[in-house]
Amino acid sequence: MDKPGSAQSVLEHNRRYIPGGISSVNRNIDPAITFVRGEGAHLWDSEGARYIDYHAGFAPYFLGHNFKPVNNAAAAALASGDSLFGAGPSIAEGRLAELICEHVPHAEKITFLNTGSEATSLAIRIARAVTGRQHVIVMQGGYNGNHDELACNVFNTLAEIGPRVSPGEYPLRPLGAGTTITQTHFTHAVNYNDLESVRYVCRRYPVAALITEPLLQNIGVVKPRPGYLEGLRDLADEFGFLLAFDEVKTGFRHALGGYAELSGVRPDLVVYGKAVANGFPLAAVGGKRDHMDSIIDPDPSRRPFVAGTYNGHPVAVAAAIETVRYLIANRDSLYPRMEMMGAEMEAGIMDIFARRGVTACVARQGSAFSFYLMEKPPADLHDIVAGHDFARDVALRRALIRKGVFFVPIATKQCSLSAAHSDADVRFTLDAFESAVAEVW
Ligand SMILES: Cc1ncc(COP(=O)(O)O)c(C=O)c1O
Repeated sequence: MDKPGSAQSVLEHNRRYIPGGISSVNRNIDPAITFVRGEGAHLWDSEGARYIDYHAGFAPYFLGHNFKPVNNAAAAALASGDSLFGAGPSIAEGRLAELICEHVPHAEKITFLNTGSEATSLAIRIARAVTGRQHVIVMQGGYNGNHDELACNVFNTLAEIGPRVSPGEYPLRPLGAGTTITQTHFTHAVNYNDLESVRYVCRRYPVAALITEPLLQNIGVVKPRPGYLEGLRDLADEFGFLLAFDEVKTGFRHALGGYAELSGVRPDLVVYGKAVANGFPLAAVGGKRDHMDSIIDPDPSRRPFVAGTYNGHPVAVAAAIETVRYLIANRDSLYPRMEMMGAEMEAGIMDIFARRGVTACVARQGSAFSFYLMEKPPADLHDIVAGHDFARDVALRRALIRKGVFFVPIATKQCSLSAAHSDADVRFTLDAFESAVAEVW
């Protein structure tokens, strides 16, 4: 019998009422841990153990857990008499929109939702309404949310997807049962970093949108080759589809204007979530004025439907305003500091692997990093499934957890530094990494 408060006892209790005991399958980890407190860069579990956190709740906590200024703004909204009136415009949503549109060049107009999945879904709907077409291109190895037509082809095994397809498209692999994706035939999964496969699909189908994380961050960190994002832009212009950057993970984290700002490639639509409200549930779709204004097209047959009881919820909006204000005020010091800390982590991990004679590499963008147990960083999912040592990856993560460093124990999952991590946290992590590597090899 597990003691009360142990992760096992919480799981057993929850399983009586919640299928699997957890409300999101992606949170299912081994070892099971029940976290009860998060502060800055640290987490505490129900048995009193403390961890340095690199999961950041799947990446929203760019400023750290329970960041006081953001929490205070949310608390002030609760105490202010503001409520979810559900009628008329709100002053706060207009403030947040102005703040983002003034500072993020790719968002000429923007609208707010609650989750990244709702927002990517709306982006596709806008693209279809604008182009009058139905087909959508996604990336093998990309994740764009949980809804029917996008939830497919993220982490497949070689047996499932076969050899690299180029040019061409992959067989659709829905993330679960009960979706329509294999009946509609509107979604096409292509290899990342592969412009010819995009061209292949565009020549065969009327494509409304290509949606992609500008760099893939759901299979570690997989960066675009030089010219790839520019090539997508050119193909969008040539074939008339909308280029939608899913910046749910990369937006506000890599730069105020996300990876689009760093790459200089201008998407037609852009989706934000996660870091924009530092852990509060808010997401957004922005983009070129004309495309966004399709939402108010006088012709109802061309007008995408946007509605949501909780869209622009005052507490989440207050949190996002404070987060974005903080990022704007501190951008000149914050982003360079995150880059320096990330570089130190990367160099430290590489040094440990080299001294231990382990074949490995680190892929990183600013505060987001991942290690791969293979010679060089991958350019697509195929490189990973063909070259990565999955068993040792998970073993290393479990050893780190035992030493008080929380790398989520799922192979290749990307790690996130936050502004709350200190140099001492990084040093502690590298010491733990060294002894974890010694245990696993
Ligand atoms: C790139 C990307 N897009 C969309 C989503 C979906 O966001 P949400 O889980 O808030 O629905 C995620 C979630 O991890 C994501 O990483």
